[in-house]
Amino acid sequence: MLKKTWGGRFRGGADPAAEKFTGSLAFDRRLWPQDIAGSMAWARALARAGVITDAERDTILDGLARVRHELETGAFTFRPELEDIHTNIERRLIELAGPVGGKLHTGRSRNDQIALDERLYLREILAATREGLRETQHVLVDRAAESLDVAMPGYTHLQRAQPVLLAHHLLAYVFMLERDRERLSDCARRADVMPLGAAALAGTAFPIDRDMLARDLGFHSVSANSLDAVSDRDHVIEFLAGAAVIGMHCSRLAGDLTLWATSEFGFVEFADAFATGSSIMPQKKNPDVAELIRGKSGRLYGNLVAVLTTMKGLPLTYNSDMQEDKEPWFDSVDTLEAILTVAPPMLASLTFRAERMRRAAGEHYATATDLADYLVRKNVPFREAHEIVGRVVRHAIESTKELEALSLEELRRFSPLIEADVHEALSVEASLAARNVAGGTAPEAVRRALADARRLVGDGA
Ligand code: ARG
Repeated sequence: MLKKTWGGRFRGGADPAAEKFTGSLAFDRRLWPQDIAGSMAWARALARAGVITDAERDTILDGLARVRHELETGAFTFRPELEDIHTNIERRLIELAGPVGGKLHTGRSRNDQIALDERLYLREILAATREGLRETQHVLVDRAAESLDVAMPGYTHLQRAQPVLLAHHLLAYVFMLERDRERLSDCARRADVMPLGAAALAGTAFPIDRDMLARDLGFHSVSANSLDAVSDRDHVIEFLAGAAVIGMHCSRLAGDLTLWATSEFGFVEFADAFATGSSIMPQKKNPDVAELIRGKSGRLYGNLVAVLTTMKGLPLTYNSDMQEDKEPWFDSVDTLEAILTVAPPMLASLTFRAERMRRAAGEHYATATDLADYLVRKNVPFREAHEIVGRVVRHAIESTKELEALSLEELRRFSPLIEADVHEALSVEASLAARNVAGGTAPEAVRRALADARRLVGDGA
């Protein structure tokens, strides 16, 4: 049996079930690159502080480089009985570098070590997630650019409300994802604090230059309180919160598309490559990818709640409970990566049914507000105009006609202020063009928003 790092105090060995239960190697092994980078920096800091000699430092650095090589090439033997990734790496270092390897853990604890590893890992995944979001935004911007002349019904209460441009609808998601990217940058900024030197909880007893160490590891500042440094998991929680919102946004996009792909809507068709069939109904084409994007928001929320709940009420400082942060966290990292990998090509390969959208945009009295606005421009107070148009709509429904199909004579029965130019005002195109306010759906406004969106996602054009 392998000796534990903390074996000295113990007489008996671990119960196999307890050992299995407490081990974290199965999931924290993914932190090996960060653990090695952190250890290398710590060895340099120990040498700078005069705690180890430069020669000892070099032996340790060389040993760590060899461990890293084994990990990179798959030659490393993971030993679950050594509990976690930190101990696995340290033990292998001592095997390769000799007893001097045993000096690495001087003045350090796994408590500040894991806090560091997490922040280093966070840095990488934040960058990758932001990039995935940007790619999704890119595709949406491109699809919007080609949809500047496609009108569709806009909805409130899932009832047809007013015509909008498809490009406007797509850009709504670009701006949502932009806030998501900001949230992640914000998380990165707050997590940019170096915890090493907090040791177990009280601060290291060796004269480590923490500022220098922070610079070595590329951190902006050092933690101001050692107790906080080892008990803080805000960086995980903020990531999970950001991930939950991203999941929510992606689920709404996927939800829209799933709805639009129904025969009832018929606004889009998924490429065969992003749909599946039914094992029994030969005619089916199911939007599985979109449904699963929608569905995965559930676990993203769950992971956030799991870690928040684990952290709730924990006495300072480190508690083993905190080891439970990793599986939910990594699950959200992997889930987001999966979503942001499949979403761009799924969106890029969608077929929009412009004809059908355009037809739907003009049906069901979608321009009733424009008729009211028409009367307002003739000085009718809006409340009165609303009432008048309500009666017009009731009349149209009863005579099963669209608004545009009502004759001038019919319309004038409701208000003598209505004149021949009314039909122009009731067209989908006029309705769209009227909304030429910043952030509105007029083609001109959408073109401006598109240019803004392109800038946001770092697209020159
Ligand atoms: N595996 C631990 C975690 O993930 C690392 C810190 C362990 N510290 C300790 N004293 N057991 O949180």
